[in-house]
Amino acid sequence: MIEFDPTTQEVLNTLEKTQKEFWNISRVTGEFLYTLIKSANCKNVLEIGTSNGYSGIWLAKALKDTGGKLTTIEFYEKRHKVASENFKKCGVDDIITVKEGSAVKILKSMPEDYKIDFAFVDANKQEYIEYFKHIDKHLTKGGYLCCDNVLSHKEKVKPFIESICADKNYENVVLDLPAGLSVARKIA
Ligand SMILES: C[S@@+](CC[C@H](N)C(=O)[O-])C[C@H]1O[C@@H](n2cnc3c(N)ncnc32)[C@H](O)[C@@H]1O
Repeated sequence: MIEFDPTTQEVLNTLEKTQKEFWNISRVTGEFLYTLIKSANCKNVLEIGTSNGYSGIWLAKALKDTGGKLTTIEFYEKRHKVASENFKKCGVDDIITVKEGSAVKILKSMPEDYKIDFAFVDANKQEYIEYFKHIDKHLTKGGYLCCDNVLSHKEKVKPFIESICADKNYENVVLDLPAGLSVARKIA
C-alpha cells in the first residue's frame, strides 16, 4: 500500500468523494502512474487535463522521489485555481507549473528543445490524436505516453489508438484499469 503524509492522505480521500464531478482518474490508476514514474525514474512529466489536481498529486508525489517536475495543462480557470490549492496543501506546488489554456495551443507553443520523458493525457478524448502528434516531438526515447479513458471512450479515442499501434516507434498496451489506460513506450 502506498502511504503519504497525513495531509496528502486526507486531500486524496476528500477528492475521491467528488471523483465523478471532477472526472478524476481512479485511485488504482493513480497508484499505477506513481509506481511507473518512480520505477522508470522519470523526471520531466507533462499532464494534459489537470482538473482539481487529483492525478497531478500522484504524478508529483512520484516526482518528489525522482527529483523531477510536472507541467500540467487545464483550460478552466476555476479548476486550475482549485488544483493549485490542492498542490500546495500536499507540498508539491514547488515542482509543478500549471499552464492555463487550450492544450493544443500550449503544445504548439512549446520550444523545440522542450523534452519530456513521461506524458499523461486525460483531457478532450477526440483530441488525443492531436496531443500525440505534438507530444511525440518532445518525448525522449524510452519515454512513456499514458492515456486514460481508452476503454470508456473507445470510439472517441480510436484514431489515436490506431495511430499509435501502427507507429513502429512505439510499443503500446491497453490496461484494463477502471476507464482503460493505454501505456505506450517510445522505443525508437
Ligand atoms: C478528465 S478531467 C482530468 C482529470 C484529472 N486528470 C484527474 O484525474 O484529476 C479533464 C480535464 O481536462 C480539461 N480539458 C478538456 N479539454 C481541454 C483542452 N482542450 N485543453 C485544456 N484542458 C482541457 C477539462 O476542463 C477537465 O478539467
